[in-house]
Amino acid sequence: MRIRPDLREIPPYRPGKSIVDVAREWGLDVSDVIKLASNECPLPPFPEVQAAVAAAAGTIHRYPDNDAREAREAIAAHLGVEPDQIWVGAGSSELLRIMALAVGGPGTSALYGWPSFVIYRLATTLAMSEPIEVPLDDAMVHDTEAMLAALRDDTTIVYLCNPNNPTGTLLAPDQVARFVDRVPSDVLVVVDEAYHEYVTAEGHHSAIGLVGDHPNLVVARTLSKIYGLAGLRIGYVVGQAETVAELRRPQAPFSVNSLAQVAAVEALRHPERVAERRQLNRAGRELLERGLAELGVPYVPSQTNFVFFRPGPDTALTADTFLGHGVVIRGLSKGWVRVTVGSDEENRRFLEVLAAELDRLAHR
Ligand SMILES: Cc1ncc(COP(=O)(O)O)c(C=O)c1O
Repeated sequence: MRIRPDLREIPPYRPGKSIVDVAREWGLDVSDVIKLASNECPLPPFPEVQAAVAAAAGTIHRYPDNDAREAREAIAAHLGVEPDQIWVGAGSSELLRIMALAVGGPGTSALYGWPSFVIYRLATTLAMSEPIEVPLDDAMVHDTEAMLAALRDDTTIVYLCNPNNPTGTLLAPDQVARFVDRVPSDVLVVVDEAYHEYVTAEGHHSAIGLVGDHPNLVVARTLSKIYGLAGLRIGYVVGQAETVAELRRPQAPFSVNSLAQVAAVEALRHPERVAERRQLNRAGRELLERGLAELGVPYVPSQTNFVFFRPGPDTALTADTFLGHGVVIRGLSKGWVRVTVGSDEENRRFLEVLAAELDRLAHR
């Protein structure tokens, strides 16, 4: 077969290991394994969402609404924009990939900070664009000056993950605005706000307000995180109507299933539950950060539902050590690993394992 050789550069996506796989590999009971590796919500979807999905199950012999009209109307009303400014996808990662394809191709480049969300790298390869990866600054924050300086004439897309995965760091709204202002108007700017709902920084707000002045700006969001719908796959992009209409062209028909559409509409009816989850997550995050500080483990203060930390020099050893205790965390690189904020019990168990193993991890 003549498969594109450049696709070999795409390593197989390694999601956080499933609970069942870990239990099998490490000879543990499934009920003893906790997964804090994929930035999922530890709570199930809202009961009203579960009921709406169950009620809609009898309709799935039909194709979904290809325009996701009701979901787009609900999202638009939630954000105070027009429905034709909303584009939905099977998770925001589908939309990230499609945007890469829409503006990429040989002879183009894509720019993003690093480390950041790995899909930017994969989508860039898929689109046959050249990646330009700009290191975060010493505080693990996007270095917007260095990013602007690294833009090239052939750059067609810039990703700005805010707050950033995996570091949990945030650019303030005025920093984002200044950055967007200075990117040339023929370069697509994607501000990825997958973790926006977890931000508790005083005075923070979304980049969606900038879209009106910038036809080249879109903001990506997801219902996979605080809404707890990761398994259904639905996310969206907000931009100017003409921009999203153009970007949408390469999307496969019917990619957003009907249950996901129903779930999104219902989920957005419960902002009070989102606020509650934000506070719960904040408490869990503070517990983790306090625990890390007390143990003297370097970590990056987070505005998300995860914390980036470095207990020792060996990422693989750290991740495997936790796995041996039935705690799945995410190994990144150079000793850095990431833990998702779980339930109170899960967070405490994570800290117990860390306290018990820290000496070994730090001094090897
Ligand atoms: C920064 C960022 N963007 C987007 C996503 C994609 O989420 P989904 O495809 O589930 O909407 C994730 C998921 O982990 C993420 O971390």
